[in-house]
Amino acid sequence: MLGFDESYEICSCKKVSIEEIIVALEKEQNPTLSDIQDLTGAGTECRYCIFKEGDNGKMKKNIYCKDVLNKIKNERING
Ligand code: FES
Repeated sequence: MLGFDESYEICSCKKVSIEEIIVALEKEQNPTLSDIQDLTGAGTECRYCIFKEGDNGKMKKNIYCKDVLNKIKNERING
């Protein structure tokens, strides 16, 4: 997804992969960032992995939970 293998660890604090987020959101009709946090724990510790604007880490992340969420939503709309 988005040029990353689905096994890519998007949240290093909680060790959550892109794939785990995809699977967790499968049953959600209108998934949100809160759903990602509630269902996987991603983004609930340092919170740098949620979205780019909130990344205050020294090493910026390459991809964020919000990117995955937007991609999933776009795929559902556009097939
Ligand atoms: S990297 Fe996701 S909460 Fe810290």
